[in-house]
Amino acid sequence: MATKLYVYTGTGNSLWIARQLALELKDAAVEFVPNLSGDFNVEADRVGIVFPVHIWGLPSHVIQFINHLHVKPETYFFALAVNAGQVAATLLQLKKLMLTRGLFLAVGYSIVLPSNYTPWGGPGPVETQQRLFREAQERVKAIAVTILRQERKKADRGPLWQNILFSWIYKMSFRSVRKMDKKFWVDDKCNSCGICSKVCPASNVEMINEKPSWLHRCEQCLACLQWCPQEAIQYGKKTAKYPRYHHPEVILKDILDQAKTNKG
Ligand SMILES: Cc1cc2nc3c(=O)[nH]c(=O)nc-3n(C[C@H](O)[C@H](O)[C@H](O)COP(=O)(O)O)c2cc1C
Ligand code: SF4
Ligand code: SF4
Repeated sequence: MATKLYVYTGTGNSLWIARQLALELKDAAVEFVPNLSGDFNVEADRVGIVFPVHIWGLPSHVIQFINHLHVKPETYFFALAVNAGQVAATLLQLKKLMLTRGLFLAVGYSIVLPSNYTPWGGPGPVETQQRLFREAQERVKAIAVTILRQERKKADRGPLWQNILFSWIYKMSFRSVRKMDKKFWVDDKCNSCGICSKVCPASNVEMINEKPSWLHRCEQCLACLQWCPQEAIQYGKKTAKYPRYHHPEVILKDILDQAKTNKG
């Protein structure tokens, strides 16, 4: 029985989780969620998606994927929503979206890893990060067992107040995410290497006069800010004082490969 695991990531947390899960499932191939504009057929018996929670909901990249996905009616579908402690109603949103396409989410799990939302602060002390990695690894092992048994369960969710309040904020902000890149700016550490342009999964960063320029179709994955080797990309006023983050076992080439998948 073949499993296809689709992953979307900004800083590698979701990719690391997908790889850990693939090791447990044994028959799983990990692929990046492609940028789709047409139908996408997947033949596997089990299909999983691993992605980061963005603004208490699904990233647009994931919505686009589900909207174009076609699977066999008997396909077993599972999802892992990687987050920094507030999954809120993200997996319920996914479940509802899938139902509109005739797809059924059998299990949906929340996995907590360090935060990559640098505008609100760094990823936390190294010891805390390491604890989160260990806990996530154990959790993935247990999750794999439920997937191999093809169990059906209620999707993980946050407390009711979060699901109501944060889902409302998600809905209110969703359409402006593309233009949230207006807050990016580059400081004088930039050496014009172009990596920020190459890692972007949305082809949203163009080098103009040897400096990055953002094109207002941003997905807010923060890959550009986090993978800049000079830490020259800032977002708003506070990011200069916070450390950058990416998962320690994920390398720049992985994120470049994701962007290449999206460029087709
Ligand atoms: C724009 C943005 C919004 C985020 N919103 C949430 C959120 O609502 N809840 C949460 O727990 N974490 C949130 N995070 C943190 C990420 O979900 C978390 O760090 C995740 O592990 C990143 O995964 P990745 O490395 O695969 O991109 C957000 C991160 C970004 C960049
Ligand atoms: S990755 Fe950083 S140093 Fe390289 S071009 Fe972009 S902003 Fe400049
Ligand atoms: S511009 Fe930066 S934050 Fe926006 S989608 Fe591209 S890499 Fe992600």
